[in-house]
Amino acid sequence: MKKIQYHYILALFLIVSFSANAQEKISLDEDWKFHFGHAANPEKDFDYSKTALLHKSNVFATTVVNPKFVDTAWASVNVPHDWVVELPFVNSPQVEMDSHGYKPVGGMYPETSIGWYRKHFTVDKSKSSKRFELQFDGIYRNAEIWINGFYVGTNFSGYVGNSYDVTDYINFEGENVLVVRVDATQYEGWFYEGAGIYRHVWLNITDKIFIPVDGIFVHAEVKGKNAIVNIETTVQNNNLQASNGSVYSYITDRNGKVLAKTAEQKITLGVHKNTTVIQKLNLNNTRLWSLDDPYLYRVISVVKSGNQIVHQTKTRFGIKTVRFDAKKGFFLNEKHLKIQGTNNHQDHAGIGSALPDYMQYYRIKLLKEMGSNSYRASHNAPTPELLDACDSIGMLVLDEQRLLNSSPEYVDQFKRLIKRDRNHPSVFLWSIGNEEQNIQGNDYGKRIAQTLLAIQQDLDPSRTSTYAADMPNVYKGVNEVIPIRGFNYREYAVADYHRDHPNQPLLGTEMGSTVTTRGIYEKDEIRAYVPDQDITHPWWASKAETWWKLAAENDFWLGGYVWTGFDYRGEPTPYKWPNISSHFGIMDVCGFPKNIYYYYQSWWTDKDVLHISPHWNWPEKIGKPIEVWVNSNADEVELFLNGKTLGKKVMPRNSHLKWEVIYEPGTLEAIGYKKGKKITSKVETTGTAYKIILTSDKTILTADGKDATVVNISISDDKGREVPIADNMVKFYLSGDAKIIGVGNGDPSSHEPDKCKDGMWQRSAFNGKCQVIIQAGKTNGSIKLEAKANGLQSASTTITLVK
Ligand code: GAL
Repeated sequence: MKKIQYHYILALFLIVSFSANAQEKISLDEDWKFHFGHAANPEKDFDYSKTALLHKSNVFATTVVNPKFVDTAWASVNVPHDWVVELPFVNSPQVEMDSHGYKPVGGMYPETSIGWYRKHFTVDKSKSSKRFELQFDGIYRNAEIWINGFYVGTNFSGYVGNSYDVTDYINFEGENVLVVRVDATQYEGWFYEGAGIYRHVWLNITDKIFIPVDGIFVHAEVKGKNAIVNIETTVQNNNLQASNGSVYSYITDRNGKVLAKTAEQKITLGVHKNTTVIQKLNLNNTRLWSLDDPYLYRVISVVKSGNQIVHQTKTRFGIKTVRFDAKKGFFLNEKHLKIQGTNNHQDHAGIGSALPDYMQYYRIKLLKEMGSNSYRASHNAPTPELLDACDSIGMLVLDEQRLLNSSPEYVDQFKRLIKRDRNHPSVFLWSIGNEEQNIQGNDYGKRIAQTLLAIQQDLDPSRTSTYAADMPNVYKGVNEVIPIRGFNYREYAVADYHRDHPNQPLLGTEMGSTVTTRGIYEKDEIRAYVPDQDITHPWWASKAETWWKLAAENDFWLGGYVWTGFDYRGEPTPYKWPNISSHFGIMDVCGFPKNIYYYYQSWWTDKDVLHISPHWNWPEKIGKPIEVWVNSNADEVELFLNGKTLGKKVMPRNSHLKWEVIYEPGTLEAIGYKKGKKITSKVETTGTAYKIILTSDKTILTADGKDATVVNISISDDKGREVPIADNMVKFYLSGDAKIIGVGNGDPSSHEPDKCKDGMWQRSAFNGKCQVIIQAGKTNGSIKLEAKANGLQSASTTITLVK
């Protein structure tokens, strides 16, 4: 007890003596100016490529990068910002646009593929002895960055961010002007990618002796009930003289109680040199990070110069063990765990790839409720906040490098990815690439993989890697050297591969991929819809039941990742236009479940699942047969139509039940018997659309200008039952200090705008539902969202904003 008190006091003392020198991490997300440039016409690109921008260190000519350039007429935007989501849908016979969601972006659309951003800010003179750094978490893509007319760097990657030291360029006498030219004329993927500064921007202010961004690496070895925590701290000296300093670290629990502290280790730092200190701490009675208890410790890293604390950082980390056994599967903290994963791209309805942080939590929460325990960030570095959400909620992450490429550019991207993400306990495995058909089976692929694997081991010896190969039972190229063999589809070949290579663990990196349209029960080639049941899949993929049965019933499968958790823009399959988004999701782009959701939830959770489909509104089918599906994890299910039994059936494991029912309106009810317990569920023929029901995910938002909530809209009959075919146009009116940032409805063929059009926010319901995303302002008080539709009773919801 005495010891604990001492540590508390010590922690307090450190904070007090430090505050005078505190480093700052300032958000630069707000108040940007934005204008399109032009990829083919220098005049429309603010004379870029016409004016000499590179012949002098500081650009004096009156160009867009000159701080004096007048941008007052440009649009005002905040980042995260994705300009593509605002563009119309275009179907051009000349350009293949389906994979990017039929948006006019890329080299064939020079007028909407270059974006210029400008941001003005001031820095107080009292900070002139500090070090300044700009940190961009992600820009799509090929971004050139200037500050006060000085070029500071280009980030080629559209996914992994970068930081730039700008100390020498800061103006303490007046405005600083940051300029970014974003060039989205090339794509990095074959899916919707968005464009613009779509992740956070920071200004980091530190002493000139400092811990660089990603300069901390914490990894632990579990020893029985205890753990040895290795803390690697890199310190850089940007002073003009060599300096002596010291480093120490301590671990706290999540309430800030100090649990262990290292000795203070002296360091000598040369001019513009860095050093890495490795310290070890014993942590007794370790509380392991797990899916049910995602416990996060903190490492506080302290750097002193003389007696002054000059930099202090806090890193959240978790302690876990992972073991991949080629015969018995995957073990988290020595408990067997089948990977029940989903692949996902990063876009969401209404907002494209510019997600408020809250949306990461919202989406991960939806996946977890379905029973998923792992997320594959296909096929690129995820947003940092997605990993924060996975750390906090308890979701394992397969973290993926964009290309299987060992050129200096991609090695650098891979290193940045690993150094950025290796402290996240959710990350349990790296992926060095995906479906590189030209090289995966040959010697190039093998050599590149070997190089990347060596880099991964060097930067993160606590983890290993996989690669998502679309190859059957083939042991060539990457597969010869990859520690964990990844299978994209070809589930039929997994057992043969295992027989031939019994010591290589096997993971389904892309599995299943049934295509379904939420609430649709008949194939519709005109509107480009596919039935919302586990029946249709492209030739290369399989049904949910096909792959999951194999994965569930064979221990040598580590598990796998469904392609995909959510629908995403682009890659419409099996149709193209008017389809603008994919159908692969278990949920649609809004996160509304499709019927297959209940298949996975039945077998991926212990929850009582009993779900009947389709809906029961079929006036044109009276007297005709309808195929009824029941998804459940009950042992037996009995189905009743208007009180009459249609028979009781035994539920086959990892499968579903079917009845052919002669349709008559009324109530279709299921009774499930699960380990002696009775569970019930029903679908009813509803009345006509009568009213709107609004459900906000949160009723209180932080008044920080960033927090957000999803409001789901359901069109119901007079008894409050959702009308499954309702398609009413709903108009939204918001009052108070907040804004709507996007609307969606999950219809993969909807060409309605996701943004405000002619001053009006509106969206038609698709099969009974649509969605609005609201972002908080900064004033305490309440905001009110009203939803109105012709002929329907309107609805409103009030949300409180608190600082
Ligand atoms: C895979 C690919 C994914 C996606 C998917 C569509 O081959 O890795 O990115 O394109 O097919 O089925």
